[in-house]
Amino acid sequence: MIKLVSVSKDYIIDSEYTFHALKKASLDIKEKEFVSIMGPSGSGKSTLMHIIGLLDKPTTGKVYVEGKEISQITDDELSRLRNEFVGFVFQQFNLISKLTVLENVMLPTLYSRKELDFNPKDRATSILTEFGLGQKLNSRPNKLSGGQQQRVAISRALMMKPKLILADEPTGNLDSKTGHEIMELLAQLNKKEKITVVLVTHETDIASYAKRIIKVKDGEVI
Ligand SMILES: Nc1ncnc2c1ncn2[C@@H]1O[C@H](COP(=O)(O)OP(=O)(O)OP(=O)(O)O)[C@@H](O)[C@H]1O
Ligand SMILES: [Mg+2]
Repeated sequence: MIKLVSVSKDYIIDSEYTFHALKKASLDIKEKEFVSIMGPSGSGKSTLMHIIGLLDKPTTGKVYVEGKEISQITDDELSRLRNEFVGFVFQQFNLISKLTVLENVMLPTLYSRKELDFNPKDRATSILTEFGLGQKLNSRPNKLSGGQQQRVAISRALMMKPKLILADEPTGNLDSKTGHEIMELLAQLNKKEKITVVLVTHETDIASYAKRIIKVKDGEVI
């Protein structure tokens, strides 16, 4: 589904020296997999995640999405893929505080250029209701608990029916019990909806929800 071949990512610091955040990283994520990416702080996990999620391009190396090499496709096609193929979940939830829960979840449909085969409001309502947030549709995110906010963020990630969910430390701001509830939810999406899940974490018990663990150290996939 997503394949990285010898991907490197360099950052130029103060236009003086080059920092190698990723060094010839290769990995292959198959459809319907549930994979964890683990490694110490600064090892390159988020950098790797941004490249897998098409938010960032590698300095060198190749990224294939369903067999297509992304440097060969147009920027338009790339933003379409990002919008429709991938759903993102972050540690800080990244919800928009001025919008209601329902509006936050509907947001990805506003950026979509494809004709939708669903009614955005109906779909958002149904996902939120399924996740136990039916009473919170018109609340602002800051009135919700951390676990509820993360469920809103997961609802938003699901809105465009993605094949892939990328979650960067989704339990990092949650207490342990709530964290495990969020992990159960992601595990269910993988198992029942057959959505591929790639999770970044540095907690071993969180990583163990995945069927495969990829370890990253000093910018290398080991
Ligand atoms: N835009 C940037 N400019 C310069 N250096 C960067 C940039 N983004 C990341 N880096 C550096 O690249 C390295 C890897 O960063 P990354 O965010 O991928 O780490 P991480 O494994 O996700 O860490 P954490 O667990 O703390 O989130 C770090 O040393 C970081 O300082
Ligand atoms: Mg990170």
